[in-house]
Amino acid sequence: MLKKDFYGNVTFETGAGPDAAFVKEYMRLKPLYSGALKTACSKFEILDDEFSMIQGHDPIHSIESRLKTVESAYEKLARRGYEQIPRNLTKLTDIAGVRVICGYIEDVYKISRVFLNQTGVRLLKEKDYIKNPKPNGYRSLHLIVEIPVSLSVIQMGVPVEIQLRTISMNMWASLEHEVSYKVNADLMPSYKTELKACADDLYAVEERMQKICRSIRACPNPQENGGTERADGTEGRASADIAGGAIPENGRAGA
Ligand code: GTP
Ligand code: MG
Repeated sequence: MLKKDFYGNVTFETGAGPDAAFVKEYMRLKPLYSGALKTACSKFEILDDEFSMIQGHDPIHSIESRLKTVESAYEKLARRGYEQIPRNLTKLTDIAGVRVICGYIEDVYKISRVFLNQTGVRLLKEKDYIKNPKPNGYRSLHLIVEIPVSLSVIQMGVPVEIQLRTISMNMWASLEHEVSYKVNADLMPSYKTELKACADDLYAVEERMQKICRSIRACPNPQENGGTERADGTEGRASADIAGGAIPENGRAGA
């Protein structure tokens, strides 16, 4: 039987799974990873609330989180070339995983910047697949951070893998993941070519929508300044910016 979590970690239930000592160590560490996961999620939720209240828009569309199962952790150790023994569990930095889905690319960078600036959050590793997409077209910002967790008798920094991406990057990654598990090898090349083309198209659309969004967000709120809305429903400054090309052309967000 094949089991999958939302990260696409696949576990084949072959019967040759983790032994009792391995499971015991996993259970000992579990509250730490679970605590780190909750802390990370609540930090993102608090930041989203703040941006929503002060700037009037939510940069975060949704947050998902998961703890890697003991079977999946056991399988990954082997895949990574580590001995499948209890103390090697701490070699894995993605036992706790959070996925933060944002509206726009700029939101991804803004949220990651303020999150990483928080006291106690320590960046261990960053992979920017938005600035440097994978050859297949995959885009997301991956961070491995260490978050302090205090239990009754232990206090330690616990690694959490955070994937930040836009709604459209998430849609693409979900389909690509499905394709890679469901499509047979002969058909794969054509799906891969088509998916790469979709990734490029989505990126181009995201950039265009980002420009519109940036221009709209830069406009004063009509309710606050007595109203700049025109009879045709368009908003004066935003339309002028688009027509006059005054919207910044600085390429990728966060660059
Ligand atoms: P894993 O062994 O998969 O954990 O890879 P890694 O530790 O080298 O890290 P990486 O940051 O490249 O990928 C971590 C996770 O990002 C994966 O488990 C997936 O959830 C996601 N991911 C990375 N590359 C791809 C991709 O090409 N397609 C999709 N759909 N997801 C990806
Ligand atoms: Mg990983």
